[in-house]
Amino acid sequence: MIYSAAYGYPDVDEWLAVALGHKPGHIYSRNTNPTAQAFEEKVRILEGGPAATSFATGMAAISNTLFALLRPGDRIVSVRDTYGGTSKLFLDFLPRIGVQVELRDTADHELIEAAIAEGCRLVYLETPTNPTLKVLDIARLAAAGHDVGAIVVVDNTFATPINQNPLALGADLVIHSATKFLGGHADVLGGVLVGDVENVAAVFHYREITGATLDPMAAYLLIRGMKTLALRIRQQNESALRIARWLEGQPRVEVVHYPGLESHPHHDVAARQMRGFGGVLSFGLAGGLAAVKRVLPRLRLAHRAANLGAVETIAGPPATTSHVECTAEERAAMGIPEGLIRYSVGIEDADDLIADLRQALEAA
Ligand SMILES: Cc1ncc(COP(=O)(O)O)c(C=O)c1O
Repeated sequence: MIYSAAYGYPDVDEWLAVALGHKPGHIYSRNTNPTAQAFEEKVRILEGGPAATSFATGMAAISNTLFALLRPGDRIVSVRDTYGGTSKLFLDFLPRIGVQVELRDTADHELIEAAIAEGCRLVYLETPTNPTLKVLDIARLAAAGHDVGAIVVVDNTFATPINQNPLALGADLVIHSATKFLGGHADVLGGVLVGDVENVAAVFHYREITGATLDPMAAYLLIRGMKTLALRIRQQNESALRIARWLEGQPRVEVVHYPGLESHPHHDVAARQMRGFGGVLSFGLAGGLAAVKRVLPRLRLAHRAANLGAVETIAGPPATTSHVECTAEERAAMGIPEGLIRYSVGIEDADDLIADLRQALEAA
C-alpha cells in the first residue's frame, strides 16, 4: 500500500509531464493514488469495462456520477424503490438544480419504457433493489435508453460482479457501494464506477475537484477483502437461497423477497441475467413492525445494524437501514412495508442461521 498525500519530483520537466498527463504517474492523492488505482483496476476487470474510478463511499459514486453528467433542464428516468440515499438525490437534491426526475413503478417495465421513450439524458437502474429485491431487466431497459440516446447507469451493489455484469447486458456505467460485498468485512467505506472512457473521465474530473476521493488505506482494505469475493459470494448465494426457501414455508412469514425463488415475480429475468441470486433477502412478518420488534432482538447470530454484504449475517428493518433517510410516508409511497426484515446472509453455517431464525420467529 502506498499511503502518501503527494508524490515528489526532483525533475520539474518530469513533474510537468506527469501533471499534464503525458507520462503515467501520480501528483496528489485527491486526484490519483496507486493503491486506489489497483482497486479500480480489479473492479474494472471484474465488470469488463474500459475505465474505472473510485470514491470515498457508494453514495459519493452515485452523487458524483449524477452531478457530473446531468445539467439543469435534463430529464432522468429511474424507479421508485432505489436505495434510500439515491431516492433522496432524486426527490430532493437533483430537482434543486433543475433536473427533472421521473420515477416509475419498479415492477412495471412497460411504464418505465414509456417514460424513457419520452426522451431523457440518463436512465438510472438498481437491480436487485434494496430492500425488496425487485429485479429490472437490464438488457431491455438499456435498449430503451439507447433508443433515445440516454446514458444507462446500473447500481450493481446487491448482485456484485460475480453474479451480474450490467455492461455486458448493455449498460454504459456500473456503480458499486464497495462498502458492501466488495469489501465484505463491514470495516471500510468505498465506491466505484466502471464504464466507457468518456463518461468515467467526466465523473473522475468532477470527483478530483469536489474531493470525494477513496482513501488509500480504504483502498488497501477493499483489495484485501476482494481476495475472497468469489468464495464469499458462492457461499452467500447458496445459503441465501436455502434460507429463502425455508422462510417461505414458515407460517409467521407473510412474504419472502428473493430473486432466486420461483415465486419471485421476475425470477425468469433474474435467472437470465444473473449467475447467482446474491446474499440479501427480505421477508415480511404477520403483525408488522410490532412483530419485527419482537423477532429482531431474539436473533443470536445476526448483527442488528444498517449494513449488508459482510461475512457476518446482518438484519434490520428498512426504517433503520436502507431507508432511514426517508419518512414513513415516503417509505409507504415506495411500497416498503414497516413490517419487513432485510436479512444479509453471511458466511456462517446455513443450518445454524436457519436454527437461529426458527427460534426467533417463535416470538413473532
Ligand atoms: C444498493 C446500494 N447502493 C448504494 C449504497 C450507498 O453506499 P454507501 O453506504 O457506501 O455510501 C447502498 C448502501 O446501503 C446500497 O445498498
